[in-house]
Amino acid sequence: MPKLKLPAPPIPAKLNPRPARPGSTKTGPLDVAAEAGISAVDWVDERTSISGAARWMMFRKVPKGTNWFYTLGSSTMFAFLSQAVTGVFLAMYYRPDAAGGAYESIRYINNEVFLGEFVHGMHKWGSSVMVILVFLHMARTFFFGAYKYPRELNWVIGVALLILTMAMSFTGYLLPFDQRSYWATIVGVNINGTGPLVGPYLSDFLRAGPEFGATTLSRFYAIHMLLIPGAMAALIGAHLYMVAKLGTTAPPWIKADSPVKKEEKA
Ligand code: HEM
Repeated sequence: MPKLKLPAPPIPAKLNPRPARPGSTKTGPLDVAAEAGISAVDWVDERTSISGAARWMMFRKVPKGTNWFYTLGSSTMFAFLSQAVTGVFLAMYYRPDAAGGAYESIRYINNEVFLGEFVHGMHKWGSSVMVILVFLHMARTFFFGAYKYPRELNWVIGVALLILTMAMSFTGYLLPFDQRSYWATIVGVNINGTGPLVGPYLSDFLRAGPEFGATTLSRFYAIHMLLIPGAMAALIGAHLYMVAKLGTTAPPWIKADSPVKKEEKA
């Protein structure tokens, strides 16, 4: 049977060049400037054919009954991006120095740097926002049955993202290196150590040795700002690819119209 070919999704009207007014030649500098954005997009598209992928990703059919709960995944992604941006600015001033430099650099960010306290606050509160959103998003996919065939793999990727989100919170908590973060992390690492089989290895890995030392802080910092965000960016990419490929699940109260029912109605 030949494969059914769906029509290409529409291009937004703004990206189509406007037709010239009758009688006008549209060659003045203002006309060229007005179309500059379109020409630039065309220039890139002619060389990369990227618009096909962009249209595939963005112009998708969504099921009947799609509601505000479907925005929780994108909200989580926005929280992640906000953490990434504010984290880059914090990294410009932060020093992972266990001999007092870390604590001092945070004090400097909060008291001296322009908008430092604001950016630090966004990062700190944003971490809680992201954890809350990721749980709400998971609850939405669970209660709507979105974990079922054929989306099991996306659920599994989601579980990895959830664990990484929690690991981000855990590793970030040590970085201010005040009394609270120091002792809380000792408790956390000890709890990790009680895990079966891998527990002791995991706590040794986190401490960078059998005892808490100067390199523990650098290790937490490297995990927090390089290892986990890199893994999360890749996994979010895979998660979104699968959402675009499989489409989203309709809410459970929406019943599909079967051909038999349609015939009965007619
Ligand atoms: C950093 C964390 C995460 C991000 C950025 C993220 C992002 C998204 C986005 C944007 C969507 C599509 C829109 C929507 O349905 O909300 C989605 C769908 C989905 N997510 Fe996540 N997600 C994350 C974590 C999780 C977790 C923890 C789970 C479950 C354990 C999960 C399971 C799913 C599933 C099964 C779908 C498909 C929903 C459907 O078919 O209706 N995600 N995700």
